[in-house]
Amino acid sequence: MPPPAAGYSFAGRVLETALDGIGNTPLIRMDRIAKAYGLKCNLYGKVEYFNPGGSVKDRMALRMLEAAEKEGKLIPGKSVLIEPSAGNTGAALAMMACLKGYRTVIVMPDRMSMDKDLILRALGAEVVRAPGPTMLSVSETLVATIPHGIMLDQFINPNNPLAHELTTAPEIIAAIESTVGGDRPTSGKIDVFCGCGGSGGTLTGVARGLRKSHNPDVKIIASDPTGSILALPETLNDPDAPIFLEGAGLKFVPKNLDRTSVSKWVKITDAEGYNAALQVHRLEALLIGGSAGAVVAGLLKYLKSDEGWEEFGGVEGKNAVAMLPDGIRNYMTQAWFTDSFANASDSPWAKQIEDALDEARKYALYDVNC
Ligand SMILES: Cc1ncc(COP(=O)(O)O)c(C=O)c1O
Repeated sequence: MPPPAAGYSFAGRVLETALDGIGNTPLIRMDRIAKAYGLKCNLYGKVEYFNPGGSVKDRMALRMLEAAEKEGKLIPGKSVLIEPSAGNTGAALAMMACLKGYRTVIVMPDRMSMDKDLILRALGAEVVRAPGPTMLSVSETLVATIPHGIMLDQFINPNNPLAHELTTAPEIIAAIESTVGGDRPTSGKIDVFCGCGGSGGTLTGVARGLRKSHNPDVKIIASDPTGSILALPETLNDPDAPIFLEGAGLKFVPKNLDRTSVSKWVKITDAEGYNAALQVHRLEALLIGGSAGAVVAGLLKYLKSDEGWEEFGGVEGKNAVAMLPDGIRNYMTQAWFTDSFANASDSPWAKQIEDALDEARKYALYDVNC
């Protein structure tokens, strides 16, 4: 089934499978973050953890898979999808494979979270942990040696950016156009879009979709971690630094990333990305993941820069959209998240809570489990 058109609603109908729930994610105002940073423009998040697989990657995985099916490359009951992935493409493919009768082997860099590893296993995937730079070569070797193995290859498959050009971009356009005539100032256009680069599908596809059919002058900002080598000019990058953020930044430039479609690359540290994610949790109640935090950090840095402030951040009615690729579900056990509670201030009701527990302990001598 083709992806649902922008404006489509899940309300009031039954979906055949989880796959029909892909896309049409909400665009949500982030007024509290905007206020905390003194922005005058509108700030929005495209919240992709609403996808059934938990991330933006559901969109392109479905398109790659259905294209391969149409070309007769997949045989239910036999084909084994083998894919290098930071985890989210893997989860999307494993969800689809589960519903369509394929098997999956996901080759994931060893630094990726245990949370993603468990999600993949829950969906029936075989998980192979490979040293980071080898995930592609390990996948290629497995495709050559596992009978009926096939790699859809998100890094070069044209259906990856196409999915974003045909679904993500039109959804954002429809949402922003709906602000015209409302009670808040709006230019009626997406003036700034900010994402980050993994396979490049999101940046390349959304940039194409927005420029072709909406606003040729849209500013595309890419937020890139210190140790990534994707940013231009190259002098911005520190190739020897490690990357800790998952999904944002790479040590090679994938074919699906059109680096020239980006108007400006903004470098951020891993810590800036994590801190922005935690701030979005607390201020907006949006439980985003680390790469989404990186996008927010990069976008805020741009909007507060001289150029960004003059044209957008300091101008009422301008619309700045942050791509939020996944949610905290993928990072629940990671130190950047769990350690953030270590310094949480003591409860103002510490005394009442302690008294209530003391009282309860008098009676709770036995576990009532029978
Ligand atoms: C959490 C997360 N953020 C960002 C990205 C980057 O998206 P893209 O591959 O479209 O560049 C990915 C890709 O796997 C991801 O998993």
